[in-house]
Amino acid sequence: MSISISELALGNGVLSLPVSGQEIAGREGSSCEDSSLLFESMAEDLQNQGYSIKPAALPLALSIQLQAHLQAMQAAQFSQAGIGRGDELTVSQFVRKDEICWINGESEAGRAWLAWAEQLRQFLNRQLYLGLFSFESHFAHYRPGDFYKRHVDAFKGEANRVLSMVTYLNPGWTQDDAGELVLYQNDHDQQGIKVTPLLGTIALFLSEDFPHEVLPALRDRYSIAGWFRVNASINGRVDPPR
Ligand code: OGA
Ligand code: MN
Repeated sequence: MSISISELALGNGVLSLPVSGQEIAGREGSSCEDSSLLFESMAEDLQNQGYSIKPAALPLALSIQLQAHLQAMQAAQFSQAGIGRGDELTVSQFVRKDEICWINGESEAGRAWLAWAEQLRQFLNRQLYLGLFSFESHFAHYRPGDFYKRHVDAFKGEANRVLSMVTYLNPGWTQDDAGELVLYQNDHDQQGIKVTPLLGTIALFLSEDFPHEVLPALRDRYSIAGWFRVNASINGRVDPPR
């Protein structure tokens, strides 16, 4: 089923975007303001299994706003993704091929996204006592054939990334387009759980515990990768987000 949402007013712009049944499934009666049922279910999943995969999780209006923002962004705003942080940042085309753009709240869409992530952060802190202190996130663009090899987002011991959240922004994505996220339950798991990167789907998982990879896609693939962090401050100096 394909429904066309035409002339949907978004800020100053007007957008026409085909959105499928799967992308709006289960949204009846839900409002953008009240994500508490979803957040509750995510918290429950995290508590029971350490990860949560939710189709149609991001509020539809926010999904469309972010997708429209991505379409308007210039290619020059993206840069080749690296591995590691600060001085240890290296770029390896053998490990990952995506291009990224950090979200700092400079755009309306970026601010709306950060506000939504902040609501989730506060909810999870109240519910699970995770002590999540901050959130950092970037848009990622994988061109056809691009990949990100199996990795973990944080290493035990030096952890400040506690919880990873990947949000997908691809309308009309089908299994034929490939490009799945594969989430492995532990270091020995070779099968994993495949997540289709369809608009609105969110994958949440404990950053240290779940190796994962991005398989090559046949289409351009867009996502937001984000991390909730604990404060790794030293000598009273608050650890900067990046
Ligand atoms: C990452 C990552 C997964 C995805 O950026 O660390 O694992 O599906 N991304 O985009
Ligand atoms: Mn990752």
